[in-house]
Amino acid sequence: MVNLKALILSGGKGTRLRPLTFTTAKQLIPVANKPILGYVLDHISRAGITDTGIIIAPETGEYVKEYVKEGTAWGINVTYMPQEPLGLAHAVKTARDFLGEDSFVMCLGDNLLGEGINKLVDKFNREKLDALILLKEVENPTTFGVAVLDGKGNVVKLIEKPKEPPSNLALVGVYIFSPRIHEAIEKIKPSWRNELEITDAIQELINMGCRVRNEILNSWWLDTGKKDDILTANSIILDEYLKNEMYGSLDNKSKVTGRVKIDKGSVVTNSIIRGPVAIGRNVSIENSFIGPYTSIGDNTSIVDSSIEHCVILSNVSVNGIERLEDSLLGKDVNVSKNHTGRKALRLMIGDYSEIEA
Ligand code: TTP
Repeated sequence: MVNLKALILSGGKGTRLRPLTFTTAKQLIPVANKPILGYVLDHISRAGITDTGIIIAPETGEYVKEYVKEGTAWGINVTYMPQEPLGLAHAVKTARDFLGEDSFVMCLGDNLLGEGINKLVDKFNREKLDALILLKEVENPTTFGVAVLDGKGNVVKLIEKPKEPPSNLALVGVYIFSPRIHEAIEKIKPSWRNELEITDAIQELINMGCRVRNEILNSWWLDTGKKDDILTANSIILDEYLKNEMYGSLDNKSKVTGRVKIDKGSVVTNSIIRGPVAIGRNVSIENSFIGPYTSIGDNTSIVDSSIEHCVILSNVSVNGIERLEDSLLGKDVNVSKNHTGRKALRLMIGDYSEIEA
């Protein structure tokens, strides 16, 4: 069996998730109260891989290190590698010394899959490939990297964001490479957006006559680059994984229905919670309604409010808000009703915030 390493891409700019990504890495935004990167590392760990390199951005790398540490929580050993975001193939180049002459699984730190990678690892080992790429049928292939197959499971061509897509098979951000990928990366030039593209490197592998095959993903795949993707990921994860767990306290005027997790130190008073809902530690919920597909982070307080289909991070206060829905609230946010009796909004909002009033 080939000894595989893992390379997780957790750098990038995360511009589409500003302002949240000014103070955290986008891979650390929680769904069902657990950072996205945590689910990615679960897959690596379950595939029996220990040697894991994590690409980090200079601006947000420290947050990633603070969460993953040495990787002990996943039973893996982590090496961190800072990178300016110059493309996925550039990330592989940055990790050249770490990867050495080993084959490796490469995953994007902000993508979630409905199944693990064990099947993929087995296939790569069995068929002695130079690249195995995971594909998924999509409705809008023009916005993805798309693969053309030859009917025997070989990938014959890759096209980035095709105007006239030759197939509806998009590249999901999971790949397994032999060390020949480094040769291919040496041959490619930066694209029009000045990035070294992994699709170009894989195309180069094909041109070099290497064995590049595919596997089709049958479960869901979520790229969590934007707010609505985070809300969708949160809903799917709550639907699939959440169990009824009660570690907090509930008074006799409160009612909980459906699957709800309430963590240690949290107190629910005179409120209705309709699952699936995940509530973190030391959360206080008072005279409120928490509707389905909501996750609430630690040390948050919800008072006299109604919330549904939201992801709320830690240390947040929501007070007197009649209806808050489809929203993503970052850490240390304060949302409250103005008591002036006027309809006017009073805001203190950071750069790149979005408000729909
Ligand atoms: P993207 O989402 O394509 O890029 P981004 O993080 O810069 O986001 P935005 O478009 O909102 O600015 O990146 C996919 C994943 O790969 C993500 O987890 C970040 C990571 N990445 C790197 O680690 N290095 C890189 O050079 C690039 C481009 C991305």
